[in-house]
Amino acid sequence: MGSGIALACAQKGFTTYLYDNNENTLQKSYTSILSNLNKLKEKGKFSDQEHNEIVGRLHVSTSLKSFSSCTLVIEAAIEDLNIKKEIFENLEQNIVSEDCILASNTSSLSITSIASACKNSNRFIGIHFFNPATLMPLVEVIPGIETDKETLRLAIQWIEELGKVSVTAKDTPGFIVNRVARPFYSESIKIYEEGIASFAQIDEALKEIGKFKMGPFELMDFIGNDINYTVTETVWRQFFYDPRFKPSFTQKRMVEAKRLGRKSGKGYYDYLKEQTEPTETLSKATAHQLVDRVLLLLFNEAADAVFMNIASKDDIDTAMIKGTNYPKGLLKWSDEYGIKNIVDRLDLLYDRYHDDRYRVCPLLRDMAQSQQNFFS
Ligand SMILES: NC(=O)c1ccc[n+]([C@@H]2O[C@H](COP(=O)([O-])OP(=O)(O)OC[C@H]3O[C@@H](n4cnc5c(N)ncnc54)[C@H](O)[C@@H]3O)[C@@H](O)[C@H]2O)c1
Repeated sequence: MGSGIALACAQKGFTTYLYDNNENTLQKSYTSILSNLNKLKEKGKFSDQEHNEIVGRLHVSTSLKSFSSCTLVIEAAIEDLNIKKEIFENLEQNIVSEDCILASNTSSLSITSIASACKNSNRFIGIHFFNPATLMPLVEVIPGIETDKETLRLAIQWIEELGKVSVTAKDTPGFIVNRVARPFYSESIKIYEEGIASFAQIDEALKEIGKFKMGPFELMDFIGNDINYTVTETVWRQFFYDPRFKPSFTQKRMVEAKRLGRKSGKGYYDYLKEQTEPTETLSKATAHQLVDRVLLLLFNEAADAVFMNIASKDDIDTAMIKGTNYPKGLLKWSDEYGIKNIVDRLDLLYDRYHDDRYRVCPLLRDMAQSQQNFFS
């Protein structure tokens, strides 16, 4: 992630320093950045001169000392609270100026907890990119409890200068995207575990009927089952084990078997096989039912993010379109689907399973009673 963020910055004209405490990794990252840039140049994305300017702006460094003139530092080190805190303690006490903004790209740690390593936690903020950072337009901005308004304003302004779209989220597990998207994976896995359909049939139904660009199993294989599982487990633990976010045995076994997805050659699908086996077609009714189940849980989660003031309605819809390529914002989609319809169907699922994952968000129930929509 660090090298992607650095390249995005250098491409937009910012003088950028990239550091990793592992010199080998740093060298490999730099080589891969240069090779990506060359490919882009060959494709005609920019001229020789622009290429040279980008390379000239990007400095790799084996010492954090080179960050002394920076006005913003974005940390994308390994996802470990103590390591992140050590980095910021060192940066603040020994290296950066007093007005340098300090930011973390963490996906799952609390911004407030990392900020606590700083004497001045007012200037600390979460700036969360999506992978690959050079291509994905969304950046989540997460103020911690102590972050001041000026830091938030400057972070949003900088993201705009970077040519990206920012959304602001409360410092809660998964922020917006990694919280609201959980049921896309978990409910699809549950449908598979109940024997209703195969991985390929579920992917097919969600693409055909739901109009998602990728099915959940393809997407988990693309992200890496290890990464996706860790996010799920972390979000669940950080929500004090709310059963709504419970991980699945199916994905845990995938990780245990090192079926990590595309990067290991095998995940839910086998990427080493030349030909894929033909998928048996599901009945229309079953395909629609399973898509409905996944959508209902996504609608409920997006509504809960509004209910708990995680972000504004507009930011929640923008985040799911720009951060995960969903075909529509989930709140707008909920309006179209019908709020009462969502509540009634979720209640039916709850009556059947008595599982908290189907617990209706109180906001949806209130809205259904008063016949309200999110956007009209
Ligand atoms: N991978 C993603 O899709 C993704 C997306 C958004 C955010 N993130 C977040 O970005 C961060 C990095 O994730 P990643 O997937 O790139 O991890 P990664 O393991 O690929 O890279 C982490 C890098 O940190 C380096 N490192 C470890 N200790 C360090 C230290 N003390 N100082 C400097 N560098 C150190 C490692 O050498 C490694 O190169 C995490 O906080 C993660 O939550 C990842």
